[in-house]
Amino acid sequence: MKVGFVGQGKMGVPMTLNLIWDGHEVTVFNRTREKTQAAAEEGARVVESPAQAADGADVVVTILSDDAAVEAVVFAEDGVLGGLGKGAVHASMSTIGVATTRRLAEAHQAAGQGFVAAPVFGRPEAAEASKLWVVAAGPADMVERCQPVFAAVGYGVSKVGEDATRAAVLKLASNFVLASAIEALAEAIALVRKHGIDPRELLDVVNTRVIRSPFYENYGTIITDERYEPAGFSLELGLKDVTLALRAAEESGASLPLAALVRDRFQTAVSRGWGEIDWAGLGRVSSDAAGLGSARGAD
Ligand SMILES: NC(=O)c1ccc[n+]([C@@H]2O[C@H](COP(=O)([O-])OP(=O)(O)OC[C@H]3O[C@@H](n4cnc5c(N)ncnc54)[C@H](OP(=O)(O)O)[C@@H]3O)[C@@H](O)[C@H]2O)c1
Repeated sequence: MKVGFVGQGKMGVPMTLNLIWDGHEVTVFNRTREKTQAAAEEGARVVESPAQAADGADVVVTILSDDAAVEAVVFAEDGVLGGLGKGAVHASMSTIGVATTRRLAEAHQAAGQGFVAAPVFGRPEAAEASKLWVVAAGPADMVERCQPVFAAVGYGVSKVGEDATRAAVLKLASNFVLASAIEALAEAIALVRKHGIDPRELLDVVNTRVIRSPFYENYGTIITDERYEPAGFSLELGLKDVTLALRAAEESGASLPLAALVRDRFQTAVSRGWGEIDWAGLGRVSSDAAGLGSARGAD
């Protein structure tokens, strides 16, 4: 299948490689051209604009940081919307807001093109291993058209309806759950350290008796070991997601007081210059607030 791919960040690079290795004909665009090198070495064609990446593609994938990036890439004069053929599909795999998702769906429909919102679960390591989980929403035939792409980058798809905004809402609600879990772990780890207890003792109890979850195990270890760099998913993107969840709550009249608190912790981290570290770095905010500094003496 002919796949256009826009975005060569932490997620985009491994996803592109897996598409190439699955036998797809891939055309790549990234704002910073150097980051297309890995894909080019594996046989992707590198082009000069998002429109060129979309031109002639059956499916064009975008996976970019945020709403502004996706809007810039889609609606620019040399953007995806102008380059994509009639009947071809844009699979939007970034985590973006509900209003932007609606705007994209409407614009593509007006242009006679398909649009599928398909945000993903899984960090870059999962992307490398083709182990992402896709949450897809859009017209059923368009979702079907994207299936070879989803199969190359992931191990499963939740099809959540025809209205693309449903996928955006489900992704934002889920990331809010994850962010809140990280904040809870961060606070609990700071608490036990203040009492002179090794946080590994806490993790032992939590992981065997309280909440058995690979997510808690993984993030509990990252926070205990203070392994925040290199980031898999940055604090800056975590701030973006919780902010988008709050915006979705405002639009619908839902109340998310916990999200407001977690957003404040993300904001604190970003304001302190930690935006580029992993979002598990909420652990650093909690230990800092408790006057603990680094357990490893690095601070
Ligand atoms: N990392 C994860 O664990 C993870 C997991 C699930 C979902 N996601 C979501 O996937 C998306 C990408 O995440 P990532 O971690 O791959 O991010 P990333 O490493 O920061 O990459 C961001 C990408 O967006 C591009 N970009 C940013 N602003 C742009 C603009 N104004 N115009 C054109 N391109 C622009 C960047 O281009 P340059 O190279 O030129 O900067 C880069 O290709 C985000 O929506 C994120 O929430 C991430």
